[in-house]
Amino acid sequence: MNYQELYRKSIDHPDSFWQEQANQLDWFKSPKTILSKDQYDYYQWFSDGELNLSYLCIDKHINEGYGNQNAIIYDSPVTDNKEHITFNTLHKEVSKLAGGLRELGLQKGDTCIIYMPMIPQALYAMLACARIGVIHSVVFGGFAPHELAIRIDDCKPKAVITASNGIEIQRIIPYKPFVDEAILLAKYKPEHVIVFDRELGVDIPHKPYDIDYSKLVNDSPSVEAVALQSTHPSYILYTSGTTGTPKGIIRDTGGYATALKFSMKYVYGVDEGDTFWAASDVGWVVGHSYIVYGPLLNRNTTVLFEGKPIKTPDASTFWRIISEHQVKVMFTAPTAIRAIKKEDPDGQLLQQFDLSCLKYQFLAGERCDVATLKWTEQQLKVPVIDHWWQTESGWPMLANMVGVELQPVKPGSASFPVCGYDIQILNDDGDIVADGTEGYVAVKLPLPPGTLSNLWGNPERFKSGYLNRFSGYYFSGDGGYKDEDGYVFITGRVDDIINVAGHRLSTAEMEEIVASHKSVAECAVFGVHCDLKGQKPLGLVVLKSGDVSEEEHIQKEIIQDVRHEIGAVASFRDVLVVNRLPKTRSGKILRKLLRNIADEQQYNIPSTIDDVAIINEIKSVYQTHNIGIHNLK
Ligand code: COA
Ligand code: AMP
Repeated sequence: MNYQELYRKSIDHPDSFWQEQANQLDWFKSPKTILSKDQYDYYQWFSDGELNLSYLCIDKHINEGYGNQNAIIYDSPVTDNKEHITFNTLHKEVSKLAGGLRELGLQKGDTCIIYMPMIPQALYAMLACARIGVIHSVVFGGFAPHELAIRIDDCKPKAVITASNGIEIQRIIPYKPFVDEAILLAKYKPEHVIVFDRELGVDIPHKPYDIDYSKLVNDSPSVEAVALQSTHPSYILYTSGTTGTPKGIIRDTGGYATALKFSMKYVYGVDEGDTFWAASDVGWVVGHSYIVYGPLLNRNTTVLFEGKPIKTPDASTFWRIISEHQVKVMFTAPTAIRAIKKEDPDGQLLQQFDLSCLKYQFLAGERCDVATLKWTEQQLKVPVIDHWWQTESGWPMLANMVGVELQPVKPGSASFPVCGYDIQILNDDGDIVADGTEGYVAVKLPLPPGTLSNLWGNPERFKSGYLNRFSGYYFSGDGGYKDEDGYVFITGRVDDIINVAGHRLSTAEMEEIVASHKSVAECAVFGVHCDLKGQKPLGLVVLKSGDVSEEEHIQKEIIQDVRHEIGAVASFRDVLVVNRLPKTRSGKILRKLLRNIADEQQYNIPSTIDDVAIINEIKSVYQTHNIGIHNLK
């Protein structure tokens, strides 16, 4: 079947299409009901089916005789360590940790936060939760204690699983102390903190709630995977929204397993037994779907990489790993490629490795510029596939489905809708626009299995944020257009979310922190172009009159405040003092105009602006501080 046929089948007959895909899994109880509505009148998949993700990722493969196959290859240049972990070993680690969680009183439906670096224990923790129906919420290590505290208060975890430290290139990151600080800040207090000691020679502060991870695993019995309803939440993953408060995306169990299994074969083109590598982090959706659950469900060997594309030790690391571990399909963010290209523009380091094992290179997480795509194609000599999705979808929405039929690659486009996604470009009134016209990227309901089922504790925000904007559609928050051949081009967010080095961040949240500095009268934070990271946040502040002489000191404090509240991942390094900000007559700050001037995008000066001279003032500040592209007119 070619792409068009398979795609049409998925849209015209979603029930039979997804039932057939669900049949690829080992259910404890096969679903009879395929698509139905939940208590919030929203769609749910396979509601009467029962299964377990941990079972499907581990036990099933052992039962079928693959216990000695590598499930995980842990490659950590930052500790100079490599480990090959078979499905048998994974089973032992996960089932005993699950036993330990049970001994501590965690039960089906409880929540557990996982705040860990890229080590095997992070994966064991996720799979141990899934084994007993505990809903995990992994928090990315680059977030500060304050962000962790927000998530603790929102999902009220019975336990937090963490490690003593992380390592950023050569710097030791204090994970456990961050957890302690977060618990101090949070109103809700978890009962236990399970700490994996990496034995890096750094003292770990001890608290009465601490449980030693290794001792817990050693002393606990193995437990079997429990049968969970398909609609049981497997995890909550927080992501940035348009307000300062992150949104807890809920993922189900059965729909997710079905979609991931389908995507491994049909989107990524990998067969069981192949090695697959997503160079992301378990704290992001890519990590959940394509470091952990997707490859393991499909009996792939997954590579767990603790390092960076450069500096660990150099720009050849990615190529060394592909070659050494025989990676068939790799997935990373364009930022990582840009970082490598900057260090090794002619690809000389790459020449040292035999990369003939690599069949496809996938890119996602941010817009892929044409130069990066072309460079990667030239160097790797395999199809380079830009594909588009988000935390909410859980798996790709636009892609060149290479497992069905490789389509010609059009640089700048993430290709076509993936099976199950009826993607349309809408105007302000919700009408479908003509080909070539830019609009809002929306997906006709129902969404396919595996996509978000709601927001944790906030069904109202789920409806208002995603479903109410266009009746009958899910609104992605991205803008884009379709060309005459049906290729979809994503042009960027239409809200104030930005994408910095593939990390999704809210400028509204940063702006709240900047505004709360005692010397700031008013401010704007927005994203501007960055050659390496795609975008970076820029803050403009107007100071209270008495504080102007303290400018440099205040700038440093503001940068420190954002780092302290959100974390290093915010990459907030530029804050400029201006005399005033452009506003409409009704007082609304024109952030888009500020961004467009910095990025040298076309802009119109709105007729409602109170004083046009302000535009030249802003340009002059940008020029003085080398912000954006220089030829400002
Ligand atoms: N734990 C603690 N701190 C972290 C962290 C983690 N897991 N990940 C990042 N940070 C810190 C970094 O050390 C850095 O701190 P600094 O300001 O003290 O230097 C800060 O957060 C910003 O990190 P990052 O945006 O990653 O920038 P970088 O300069 O360290 O590295 C790249 C630049 C391009 C090499 C890096 O961003 C990269 O590898 N990107 C790949 C993107 C990716 O995998 N995205 C996932 C979505 S698919
Ligand atoms: P996240 O939820 O962190 O995965 O971020 C999702 C957002 O990243 C999307 O809404 C897009 O704005 C952006 N994004 C992801 N992949 C792509 C892509 N291939 N092209 C353009 N933007 C992308």
